[in-house]
Amino acid sequence: MQLLFKENLARIGKFKTDHGEIETPAVMPVINPNLNFLSERELKDLGVQAVITNSYIIRRTEKLRDYALKYGVHRLINFQGPVMTDSGTFQSYVYGDIEYNNKEIVDFQKNIGSDIITILDIFSRPDDGYETAKNAVYETYNRLNEIDIGNKIIAGPIQGSIYPDLRKISAKLMSKAPYLPIGGVVPLLESYRYDDLIKIIINSKVNADFSKPIHLFGGGHPMFFAFSVLLGVDLFDSASYIKYAKDNRVLYTEGTRNLKEIRDFPDWSPLFGRYKPEELLRETEKIRLKELSKHNLKAIFNEITEIKERIYENTLYQYVEEKSRAHPSLYRAFIEMLNSNIDNFYNISLKSPFYFYDNHSLKNPFVKRLIEFTFKYINNSKKCVILNHKYWRAGVPTADSVKEFYGSNDYNILVQWNNIFIPLELEDTYPVSQSVSSNIIDRDYQTYFISELKKINNDIIFYDDSITYDRKVRDYDHGKIDAVFKFQFNCDRSLFNSSDFIVRSKATGHIRNILRDSKILATMRNDGFFTLSIHGGSALQKIKEYPMSRVVVTPDSGEFNAKDFNVFFKFIKDFDENIIAGNEVMVVGENDELYAVGHSTVSGTEMKSYREGVAVKVHEGINKL
Ligand code: GUN
Repeated sequence: MQLLFKENLARIGKFKTDHGEIETPAVMPVINPNLNFLSERELKDLGVQAVITNSYIIRRTEKLRDYALKYGVHRLINFQGPVMTDSGTFQSYVYGDIEYNNKEIVDFQKNIGSDIITILDIFSRPDDGYETAKNAVYETYNRLNEIDIGNKIIAGPIQGSIYPDLRKISAKLMSKAPYLPIGGVVPLLESYRYDDLIKIIINSKVNADFSKPIHLFGGGHPMFFAFSVLLGVDLFDSASYIKYAKDNRVLYTEGTRNLKEIRDFPDWSPLFGRYKPEELLRETEKIRLKELSKHNLKAIFNEITEIKERIYENTLYQYVEEKSRAHPSLYRAFIEMLNSNIDNFYNISLKSPFYFYDNHSLKNPFVKRLIEFTFKYINNSKKCVILNHKYWRAGVPTADSVKEFYGSNDYNILVQWNNIFIPLELEDTYPVSQSVSSNIIDRDYQTYFISELKKINNDIIFYDDSITYDRKVRDYDHGKIDAVFKFQFNCDRSLFNSSDFIVRSKATGHIRNILRDSKILATMRNDGFFTLSIHGGSALQKIKEYPMSRVVVTPDSGEFNAKDFNVFFKFIKDFDENIIAGNEVMVVGENDELYAVGHSTVSGTEMKSYREGVAVKVHEGINKL
């Protein structure tokens, strides 16, 4: 799978099948081979790239079976794009044993020319006991081993019921398959157990091979798409569009309404202006089913389009935060997500501002990083002085400005940011300056936060006018670049020293470049972090221990990277596992010879999985030196 755009674990990607590429996130409508009433043109006009149908039903029905074996599944269901087939697992879950075994049903899918073939996995129910679920995980894995994957896209479902360790084991085992659905979740989706789903998706996703498509089996309701995609799901299948149509239910992003109870269709609906609800009710069942199916599919694909746009502009997290209020079960799921640890997968910063609402916002990984750094920052014998919002923004009366005050002492200076206190030096760094706040201050939380800080450094006071200032002992700008550097690279030592020269932007007055011997070491970006030049990379390399912030490449690749060309995943030999997605890295050879500097497109944890595409966007190669 190739990565195109990314927001933390969410991604826009693409992968190839024998019948064309699929750009993800994508939804595959379930096509009933007995009842196929939407043409390929109609499906494609609604945004459908690929469909899923059931090989078990085809095989069991003589007419369909003979036709599919003779002409292929694409002709059977009249769809020339990518077709995925399911195996009958779900039918065996609903109706009990089925009459074919794993090998037979996989061979059948191969013989009818399916693009994505599903093994006959064992469906684990949420209420299965641990041992039953464990046996199902291993039996599913045996079934994957029993078949010849070859160059086929075989879907190997991740099972494990609601047990985190079984999902983890299953994700690791099934990662041998080229395509990874998360299975056994339909009962949870049907009963709105979204919080359990969050845990299942996270445990499956973070333990699976990141380069492989992740599919949420049966996750066809748009209400949960954004949550799933934010946690790394790439594909869904949906039978709900038809199921709802059969019940005269009209689908919207947040839920359904009864056709009998609505005044009109929304303006995005293909039915808007063509039918009034009461007119559609008077139509034959066949027409109504077709028209409502179109409407429902449109609702599904609208949501996918919005989600993709959100990933592209880096606001999917905010979208999910909005969605969390659409239903109490979603809110519960949102809180579950905030309490889980997926921090490693968060980028260094996002291109959109951070929205600070309330104390839940403190659990966002960007804020968690900030808090963690604050605890490290005060872990010394210096006094801590807190400037509340008034002093931070209006200046400190005993000095002409906050910066002058900072220069006159050697205290840890903290400033109030929403309900917490953070190092002054990070005032222009993401997410601090790029945030929009509700400005609802929770004093009790602030008191609690100070008590937490005091566990590390007990010498904490609030600024007041009695604190006088002394002669100049330090320089704010140098203090700032040092603190930002330590925050950005999660280290105790700065690249910079006090004789480095700081250049400010004439237009904004902000710090722009850090120079040493008249050469640029680093540039401070709009998100307040640094981009390293090759000189900066070279200086950093001398003070960092191998393999910190390094991506080790083959000599062939290094030659190109030295000339400013990007690093491709397939040429990577080693890397620092702690790399943060979007952060600066040094591209080096096996003897630590520097080839280039750039930023990593993914985190260290993900780097080992990908094979296709760009791993490091190179800013500058060593040939420039
Ligand atoms: N459809 C819905 N859930 C599942 C599942 O767990 N496995 C398979 N193969 N298909 C499904």
